[in-house]
Formats: sequence, structure tokens, C-alpha cells
Amino acid sequence: MADIIVSNVSKSFGDREVLHSVSFSVRSGDFLSITGESGSGKSTLLSVMGGVLRPDAGTVTIGKEEITSLPEKKLALLRRTSIGFVYQFFNLVPTMTVRDNILLPLRLAGEKIKDHQEKLEELAEYTRLTKVLSSYPETLSGGEQQRAAILRALIHNPEVIFLDEPTGNLDSENAKGVMELLTKLNGELGVTVVQVTHSETGASYGNSRISVKDGRIETCF
Ligand SMILES: Nc1ncnc2c1ncn2[C@@H]1O[C@H](COP(=O)(O)OP(=O)(O)OP(=O)(O)O)[C@@H](O)[C@H]1O
Ligand SMILES: [Mg+2]
Repeated sequence: MADIIVSNVSKSFGDREVLHSVSFSVRSGDFLSITGESGSGKSTLLSVMGGVLRPDAGTVTIGKEEITSLPEKKLALLRRTSIGFVYQFFNLVPTMTVRDNILLPLRLAGEKIKDHQEKLEELAEYTRLTKVLSSYPETLSGGEQQRAAILRALIHNPEVIFLDEPTGNLDSENAKGVMELLTKLNGELGVTVVQVTHSETGASYGNSRISVKDGRIETCF
């Protein structure tokens, strides 16, 4: 059970404070959508929540771990094992097949691919990617590429997955496919989902929502 508690988080870049003492929490099993204008601090907040950026003040706790005070090595391990990250532009390696892209986090972690083969097949089935596993990313539709990026984020069975505008680069049909996949992962596998989205339709899939304005939480429900 990994609730996420964000407590009085502030973050500046240079002399500009981008997050001003932000506090809220996400229950384990929630599907939270974060909305807000461009530049309001959504990506910064997501990065701080996922241990990619350290805040200047305040704490983030995921389950029992206060991630903001973990040493870099432990934080890297936590990111590799308990957290999945997905970005707007998929970030798939173009010279690798979809299968190798998905297995990359395991290879980087020095794990035996053999032990995860079955899970890869199951997840590929689940994300409707079985047929394209041996293809290269550029031959896939945007929706397929994003589902592959989501699959890659899931290969370690993370308890929570953070997504920064996962449908920002997709047409409405592919966006719908991605949102339906997230709903399924959340509902059936119990993965906690935290997504940043510009889209009203995208935000409507979640069961809770916060809106960020000028680095502060404007509404929360
Ligand atoms: N690494 C950085 N260095 C300096 N300034 C940054 C950095 N990252 C973000 N900022 C600034 O912090 C502010 C918030 O950025 P952030 O990316 O969190 O906004 P956002 O809400 O995600 O915007 P968008 O919807 O356009 O993605 C912006 O003014 C941005 O220029
Ligand atoms: Mg952003």
C-alpha cells in the first residue's frame, strides 16, 4: 500500500520559486489527474513526486519511504523498482525493437531477462502489443508507441506510475486507447496512477483531480 503524501513542497529554479509550499495526498489505488495552465508547475510537481527532482523544502512520502531524504543510490533503486515514469514523447530508443525497449530497464538493472519473459508476454497481450514486439518504434502508431512506453514503465511491477501528458502527442482515438489502458491498469491491477494532462477528456478518466495555478494547488477534489 503506497499512499503518496506531498507536504509543504517548495521548489525554485534560480531565484524563481515555481512550487510554493504545496501539500496534498494521493491514496494507494487512486487515479489522480493534475491539470493547470502551461508553466504553472505541473511537470515540476510530478518530477518531485516521482523522485526525479529534489524539492528545496518539504517532503514527499511514498508508502513508508520519505523519498525526499533518501540518498541518491537508494532513490535510484526505488525509481527503478517501485515507480514507473511515462513522458509525452514516449522516449523509445529508435534503434531498438519494441521488445528491447521494454526490457531496457531490466538490462540496466542487471536483471536476468529470462525471469521476466512470461510477464513481458502477458503485459504485451494486455496492452495489445504482441504483434509489434519485434518491430522498431518508428513503424508503430503514436498510440502503440505510448502503450509500449507504458509497458516499459510497468515491467518492474511498480505500485505507482507517473505520466506527464501521456496523450499530448496523440490523436483522439489513440488518446482514448491510452486512457482506457490506464483505467484498466488502475482498476484491475490496482496500480496508482498520477497523470498530468491538458485535456478535459483525459482528466475525466481519473477519480480525483487537482488543479495547479502559479505553483499552488487551486482546487482539489
Ligand atoms: N530545469 C528548469 N530550469 C529552469 N526553469 C525551469 C526548469 N523546469 C521548469 N522551469 C520553469 O518552471 C516553471 C514551471 O515549469 P513546468 O515545466 O513545471 O510547468 P508545466 O505546468 O508542466 O507547463 P507545461 O504545461 O507547459 O508543460 C516554468 O516557468 C518553467 O520555465
Ligand atoms: Mg509540463
